[in-house]
Amino acid sequence: MRIGLMTSGGDCPGLNAVIRAAVLKGIKEYDAEIVGFKDGWRGVVEMDYVPLSRADVRGLAGSGGTILGTSRTNPVTHPGGGAENMIANFAEHGIDGLIAIGGEGTMSGANELAEAGVPVVGVPKTIDNDLDGTDYTFGFDTAVAIATDAMDRLRTTGDSHHRCMVAEVMGRHVGWIALHSGMSAGAHAILIPEQPESMQQVCDWVRQVHERGRSPLVVVAEGYIPQGHDGPIAIRGKQADGRPRLGGIGEWLAEQIEEMTGIETRNTTLGHIQRGGAPTGFDRVLATRCGMHAVQLCADKHWGQMTALRGTEIEHVSLSEATHTLKTVPLHRYEEAKVLFGR
Ligand code: F6P
Repeated sequence: MRIGLMTSGGDCPGLNAVIRAAVLKGIKEYDAEIVGFKDGWRGVVEMDYVPLSRADVRGLAGSGGTILGTSRTNPVTHPGGGAENMIANFAEHGIDGLIAIGGEGTMSGANELAEAGVPVVGVPKTIDNDLDGTDYTFGFDTAVAIATDAMDRLRTTGDSHHRCMVAEVMGRHVGWIALHSGMSAGAHAILIPEQPESMQQVCDWVRQVHERGRSPLVVVAEGYIPQGHDGPIAIRGKQADGRPRLGGIGEWLAEQIEEMTGIETRNTTLGHIQRGGAPTGFDRVLATRCGMHAVQLCADKHWGQMTALRGTEIEHVSLSEATHTLKTVPLHRYEEAKVLFGR
């Protein structure tokens, strides 16, 4: 058996742990040959790959980034792409199956290719935790830990200066990182794309905390849309693939809070720090188990599936089911956190 691995989309702590686990299990249990495609779908379409041995993955469980590189290349529209070409290339190079490790976009691409006959399975990753079909994605726990640590630090400097501190975290469409890091750091307001709280309400929470002599801490997801606005504000233009580039809401919010409450306010945008560096123990274990399960799916020729965490077990769901809808923060989880806001 010859299996190809590739990592695609935005990087995420735990990618290397998946690669390591797949190589170790593939070699040990199936005497498989594992190859790694470079830079996401680009490498797959152009058949740009390298062999991966046990030595190549030594010590990788705890390392950040991806040794294979990543890109946001579209596997269908990239020159030479499409299912027919991929099937022919795989046959020519003796590739029996592909493990695609990526987020929502990657899983949707994999699903399209699987439906057209490409032997592919998916491993979900995203710090945003917005992939449906799995309880958690690796990367998320690490991002929450990093954001929590940052907010703990913001609290002490904020308290010293009697300032309101705003922390902008990632989360283009969903507020999972904001919700969990905000709860864990004891934020006084959590603002997420799913719940358009008004600026009036945000400022009421800030004032209440300030009045009892504490430094208000506000966490905002980059995709948050304040009530009365049509779409995400402070968009910084477009990315290479045409998606809006978010970021800037934290600055905007800090200015508004200062203006409306008179309380000195500072913003910190955490940005890509949330995606860099070593994964937490939880993410290493989750990524490792997903990598091993994906190899099992390849050995069983169970194509078109995605590994999934269900409770404490690693299972699989069809790619089409997993890519149907984004996993947003449900109202009851937000209401639960809201009890902790303001006074
Ligand atoms: O999808 C994960 C994510 O981290 C989003 O939260 C964020 O908006 C985006 O990636 C940033 O992508 P890029 O690295 O391409 O700027």
